[in-house]
Amino acid sequence: MKLQVLKLHHFRNYDQLSIMFNPHLNIIYGKNGVGKTNLIESIYVLAITRTFRNVNEKVLISINSSLAKVEGKILNEKRQEDTYSIYLTKEGKKVKINNNKVIKISDYITKIPIVLFNPDDLKMIKDTPNTRRKQLNIAISQYNVNYLKDLTIYKKIMKQRNSYLKKLVVNSNQSFDYLDILTDKLINYGLKIFEERKKFVDFINENLENLYENITNLSGLKIVYKSDYDNCDVTKLKKNYQKMLQKDLTFGKTNIGIHTDDLEFLIDDNNLKDYGSEGQQKNAVVAFKLCELLFLKTKLNFAPILILDDIFSELDKEKIQNIFKLLTSDMQIFITTTELDFLNDINLKNYKTIEISSGKVEKERDYE
Ligand SMILES: Nc1ncnc2c1ncn2[C@@H]1O[C@H](COP(=O)(O)OP(=O)(O)OP(=O)(O)O)[C@@H](O)[C@H]1O
Ligand SMILES: [Mg+2]
Repeated sequence: MKLQVLKLHHFRNYDQLSIMFNPHLNIIYGKNGVGKTNLIESIYVLAITRTFRNVNEKVLISINSSLAKVEGKILNEKRQEDTYSIYLTKEGKKVKINNNKVIKISDYITKIPIVLFNPDDLKMIKDTPNTRRKQLNIAISQYNVNYLKDLTIYKKIMKQRNSYLKKLVVNSNQSFDYLDILTDKLINYGLKIFEERKKFVDFINENLENLYENITNLSGLKIVYKSDYDNCDVTKLKKNYQKMLQKDLTFGKTNIGIHTDDLEFLIDDNNLKDYGSEGQQKNAVVAFKLCELLFLKTKLNFAPILILDDIFSELDKEKIQNIFKLLTSDMQIFITTTELDFLNDINLKNYKTIEISSGKVEKERDYE
């Protein structure tokens, strides 16, 4: 999977841009605020149809414009060339593959698998459970079309259940039978999502400690998947929902389910959130991301695109050298940085440097 050409039209601070990439390594450099993250954000949006930044997506469209377009020519693993495009307007978005409109986003986002590492991810361990669930959802939905569909249905059923709980409080003559139907449906879809998340976490744990050790020379890292559905069959879950009913009615919402799932990072069995240093937490997230990369590669039989945004400002030299040793030549990598001096420490071949200055490519250079 290689992004060969990227074209931007009114995306963030890029008015028009057309750029060819190296199939292996692309180093995007420039001063602060010139548009390095915006450039890799456009690649992410092309693949996932959403930004990784926690913003209203209207800001992706250049100020004073009403439409942004990102287009990418992709060489897939069968060596076929396809053109992907996403159109963003203030009203919504539209995606196309080879100029044919794709109606279901869930069908589109399995096409360009991508793993992103951004400074904000480093806060993942300290952040709310919602952030960690998002990471799970993005990773899994990139190889499993049904996962995102099931998740969408789950959310819809939960919404119906929550509004029915409120109705039951107002009018006690309402039947509980309908609530039971909604609970059964919720359990059915919840279990499917739980199974996929569990498989993902199990894979991560098979590789996490080893990768963490390769980066830091330290051991003892693992993650724990915390879920109300853990070790539960349908009968047990029904009982648990029954036990929770009074609380559900009081709050007018569903208190148990996969929407409360969480991941815990442990180092030597201590919670990294409470015990870990900033550095330990960052390294753990990097190891987790590299596991995600390995997971997708194993599932898909080809390497996803890897984006490393600004890691040089976050990690020390030794860790970065160790990370580079783990990157294989079959994947296409995009790196952003303000300084190129790391090139003196790492022996790289076959790469391209791209200098950005305020929304424009200032200089491009290919290295054999
Ligand atoms: N919708 C938009 N229209 C025009 N310009 C925008 C828009 N959104 C963001 N910008 C501009 O993009 C710039 C920030 O770009 P970006 O975050 O890519 O910088 P960067 O090169 O990654 O910087 P750093 O090195 O600090 O991470 C800002 O100058 C901002 O004003
Ligand atoms: Mg940036």
